[in-house]
Amino acid sequence: MVKYFNIIQALCRSALANPNEAILHQINRLKDGLEKDGHEKEAKSLEGLLSSSQASLEMSPSKIQQSFVATIGETLTAKTPIPVDKETSTPLAEVFFPAELPDEMPLFDDNIQLAIQSIVNEWMKFEKLLEINATPASSCLIYGAPGTGKTHLAKWISKQIGLPVVLARLEGLMSSFLGTTSRNIGNLFAFANRYRCVLLLDEFDAIAKLRNDPQEVGEVKRVVNTLLQSLDSRHEKGFTIGVTNHESLLDPAIWRRFDIQIEIPKPSPEVMMHLLKKFLTPLEFNESEIKFLAWCLEGSSGADAEMLSKWLKRAFVLEKGSSIISVMKQFALLNSGRVDVGKRNVMLHSDEDFITMLLEDRAYSFKQKDIASLFGITPSTLSKQLSKFKDSEKI
Ligand SMILES: Nc1ncnc2c1ncn2[C@@H]1O[C@H](COP(=O)(O)OP(=O)(O)OP(=O)(O)O)[C@@H](O)[C@H]1O
Ligand SMILES: [Mg+2]
Repeated sequence: MVKYFNIIQALCRSALANPNEAILHQINRLKDGLEKDGHEKEAKSLEGLLSSSQASLEMSPSKIQQSFVATIGETLTAKTPIPVDKETSTPLAEVFFPAELPDEMPLFDDNIQLAIQSIVNEWMKFEKLLEINATPASSCLIYGAPGTGKTHLAKWISKQIGLPVVLARLEGLMSSFLGTTSRNIGNLFAFANRYRCVLLLDEFDAIAKLRNDPQEVGEVKRVVNTLLQSLDSRHEKGFTIGVTNHESLLDPAIWRRFDIQIEIPKPSPEVMMHLLKKFLTPLEFNESEIKFLAWCLEGSSGADAEMLSKWLKRAFVLEKGSSIISVMKQFALLNSGRVDVGKRNVMLHSDEDFITMLLEDRAYSFKQKDIASLFGITPSTLSKQLSKFKDSEKI
């Protein structure tokens, strides 16, 4: 037994109640020393203290973090004060630690998924690239339609890099006093540059909207300039990810500040089917049902797929035995923005046209047996009905 170990242990425990990087480092040193000298029991006890400390979990550098500009910046902890807007006292950003970030990459088409993976791989090898004087990209603009998973993607990328995210919605930085807006932007960047983190500027287009205010031309220019200078100040300090739905509103000078630009499209039919399967778990639907749901949502976003899945879960739990066709008719009726207007009209007004429309859709290539099962009839009943439709067309 190491002399005074119970006191050492108590000291470590108190220090870990309010930890910082130096404390973690010293306790780790102590643990390694004890282990080396054969005091395994004591070393284990310190290890236990370290791993049970939530903060150590948030702060211990991950493998990736070590290889990424590990020397630059202080470590963010749950206790780090976040700068606030001086007028309203609202925080200028929200901090998410790696443990709070999504593990799963959003689902996209293979080519996008591969492109994203390749930039993340590049960032993971940051140090190697620096050794050969190649500066890897350190900023990225993600743009595309609403609800396509852009914010989720930005958070996932940060998780891969192993750094906490400082998430600021640009709208939140805007004050009715433009002078305060510039100051907020300055304070936010100063904060992000001080700590090791990914700076995530969400709803980035908000800044562009300012430009439409003709009364404040001079001030607006100053705000945009502050933003440009601030973006420049991020180089070699850490990653910056900008996210926007309205890329066309962004100034070309802002575009140029981002090394990489990724456009996120709306999900293809295939991706939509994958998303639906994922969001519908644990409910099980067969392939033709999933295909039909994707058909209904064509042109919608991943967020719409998530919303429809919640709707279906409610519908199938509350009204067991409902048919998917009747549930989707109801969905189309109450979600006019999510189902294409042409499809909606046909779904709601005539089963005959509805079936014909499904059969004629080349992108989804529904078979008669798929449609029969959706409508809860046998294939032979469906083919009889189809020939009846044809006969009535002839009359
Ligand atoms: N391709 C996708 N893969 C997985 N989940 C997705 C996808 N697209 C959207 N989602 C889900 O939809 C919801 C909304 O996503 P997110 O907030 O990332 O979208 P966004 O593009 O940032 O939207 P907005 O433009 O409205 O801010 C999230 O729960 C997200 O997980
Ligand atoms: Mg978003």
